[in-house]
Amino acid sequence: MVSYLFVTGSEPLVSPLCTGVVTLLVNHLELRDCVKDPTLWPKAVEEVLRYHHNGVLGMPRVATEEIRLHDVTISEGEGVCTPMLGATWDPAHYRNPARFSIHRRTDGTATFGAGPHFCLGAALSRMFLQTAYEALFTRFPSLFLAVSEHDVPWERDLFSTKPALLPVAWDPAAH
Ligand code: HEM
Repeated sequence: MVSYLFVTGSEPLVSPLCTGVVTLLVNHLELRDCVKDPTLWPKAVEEVLRYHHNGVLGMPRVATEEIRLHDVTISEGEGVCTPMLGATWDPAHYRNPARFSIHRRTDGTATFGAGPHFCLGAALSRMFLQTAYEALFTRFPSLFLAVSEHDVPWERDLFSTKPALLPVAWDPAAH
């Protein structure tokens, strides 16, 4: 459990640190709203985690008995991979899920799983990301992408989602 916490306690936070920064820089009106009203940072964190969930393929599961879900029968012993984006982009729960909006009303996010394996690090992750985004954009309110958003290279890793690098610049006169 301790070694599991060492791994899970750092790596899953690296991706949203980067995906959040790039997504907020691209959606600069939402970013402006957060800088003006810091009580919106928690909503920005929820929306970043919904929009770019870390778990690309999700944890594999093996059915211990036959089960029927959404008109599909999964037999005992069959393996299933359920990408988390299937939940966080589910149009039955999120209107226009492809739109990034920190102002959306959610009915409870699926980001951190559910049931007995609900993420142990959910509260830490939320606090960490709120603190990091707020600190960065308060210190550098003029931060901008130094390349077109279409030229940001993304890692093709199936375990987590993040840019391979993120060139940024800022206006020194504004600070
Ligand atoms: C934004 C970052 C994170 C996301 C999106 C995330 C997401 C998840 C999800 C979806 C699960 C459920 C997996 C399943 O159903 O099998 C999970 C489990 C878990 N997470 Fe996280 N996590 C994050 C950060 C962290 C951090 C920072 C820690 C540790 C401090 C952590 C520790 C754990 C542990 C120990 C479990 C397994 C719980 C169990 O099996 O009882 N996670 N996480």
